[in-house]
Parts: sequence; structure tokens; C-alpha cells
Amino acid sequence: MAKVEFKKDGISVDVPAGTALMNICDEHGASVAFSCRVGACTSCLVTVLSGLENLSPMTEQEKITLEGFGAKPNQRLACQVVVNGDCVIE
Ligand code: FES
Repeated sequence: MAKVEFKKDGISVDVPAGTALMNICDEHGASVAFSCRVGACTSCLVTVLSGLENLSPMTEQEKITLEGFGAKPNQRLACQVVVNGDCVIE
């Protein structure tokens, strides 16, 4: 299991390791805005306050999009992330 906390929303949920962050957001009402859902638009950009190491490695598509956007090292695209352990999202 993995505990995922959305700090801004005051939501904390336990999910099976290997769950897509996008599905967690959809199912629990986190205020992350999705648009393309394929890692191309940055609308789902999230800042990871802790547990970055518990998230799936970046896909090539996510890397390209984040580099183009100038994202910080602790920012990920929620639509591309699989949660493998505890994490805190801003
Ligand atoms: S919804 Fe477009 S990058 Fe995630």
C-alpha cells in the first residue's frame, strides 16, 4: 500500500502500490486539472513535497514536456506518474 497526501486539498488516501496518480486524483477529487492525459500539455503539473523516489521514472514524453516547460526537479506530470510508495503532493 501507499499513502498519498494532497496537501492543498486536505486529502489523504491509501492506495495499492502501482496505482496511477491520475486515477487517484479522479477517484478522490484532488484538484489537479487534466487535459491531454498523455503528458503533452502540463495542465496536470504537480509539485511533489516528499516521496519523489516512490514515483515511477519519467517517460520520454514526460521528460520532453517538463524540460520544455522549465519545470523544477520536484515537479511531475500527474497523468504520467504511477505511485509505488508514500508521497505528498502540494
Ligand atoms: S494532462 Fe496534459 S500533461 Fe497531464
